[in-house]
This record gives sequence, C-alpha cells and structure tokens, in this order.
Amino acid sequence: MKAIGALIMSLALWACNARSDAMAVDYSKIEVPVDRIASDEARDRGRALFRAKCALCHGVRANGHGARRQGLSGQPANFQSREWRANTGPRRIYRVLSEGKRGTSMPAWPTLSDEEKWEVVAYVLGVSEDGP
Ligand code: HEC
Repeated sequence: MKAIGALIMSLALWACNARSDAMAVDYSKIEVPVDRIASDEARDRGRALFRAKCALCHGVRANGHGARRQGLSGQPANFQSREWRANTGPRRIYRVLSEGKRGTSMPAWPTLSDEEKWEVVAYVLGVSEDGP
C-alpha cells in the first residue's frame, strides 16, 4: 500500500511540475531506443555506470541496500522487485535521471549523456529478470 501511496504522490507531483513549467520537456513524447535498450551491450554498459554512480545508494546488487541508504529522503528503489518493474517504464526512468525526484534524495544526472541514460535504463529494467 505504501508503494501505491508513493506512486500517487509522484503522479501528483508530476502533474504539478508539468503545469508550472511551460518549458518542461514532454517526456511522454521522447523516443525510446527500444532495440538499443534490449541489447546485452547496453545493459552491460549500464551495469558499469550503475556500479560507479548509483550503487552507493541503490546497492551493488541493485536491491536498494546501498552503503549510503540511511538518512536519505526516501528509500532507494529496489530494482530486483517485480512490483517496481511492473509499475515503471523506460520513459519514467529517463525522466527521473534527467530531473531527479523532487522532495527525495534521488538526484538528477546532468553528467550522463543521453546514450548513457538509456544504458542505465536498460540495466535497471533488466535486473528483476536477469539479476544484477
Ligand atoms: C544519493 C543516493 C542516490 C543515488 C546516488 C541514486 N539514487 Fe536513485 N533513488 C534514491 C532514492 C532515495 C530514491 C527513492 C525516491 C522516492 O522516494 O521515490 C531513488 C529512486 C530511484 C528510482 C525510482 C524513481 C521512481 O519513482 O520511478 C530510479 C529509477 C533511480 N532511483 C535510479 C537511479 C540511478 C539509475 C542512479 C545512478 C545514475 C541513482 N538512482 C542514483 C537515491 C539515490
């Protein structure tokens, strides 16, 4: 139930942001490089990026148990969770990487190129099926 509450909250925040910022990117129109993110190569590169930049909070096993997870605002997402996987998608993750998640410790990643963002997307989407 907590997860559903969080989802509703984030949808509400998303709606507010979309309205208050006329220059906002319309993420629903962003083209997803479907073949690229289905490839093993993208996933492998995404794993390396993940371990370098995300594992501190999300854990090397991508299960949300990173060394720095205590004292954060929000619980780092567990990418092994099938429930998490069932409620997300490439555009949503791309958006979170681009903008961060307001009101939580999830930062934006302006240092990642577009290509790198999609590689990380490929990796985190694959974890619940293929493991970390
Ligand atoms: C400083 C700690 C920290 C780092 C580093 C971090 N995250 Fe997070 N992340 C969080 C927290 C906390 C949340 C939970 C936010 C919330 O409460 O919904 C989160 C949530 C997420 C979510 C789920 C967002 C949603 O609601 O759909 C994704 C996807 C994600 N992180 C990906 C990444 C990726 C990929 C990286 C590395 C490029 C990364 N994070 C690095 C702390 C971190």
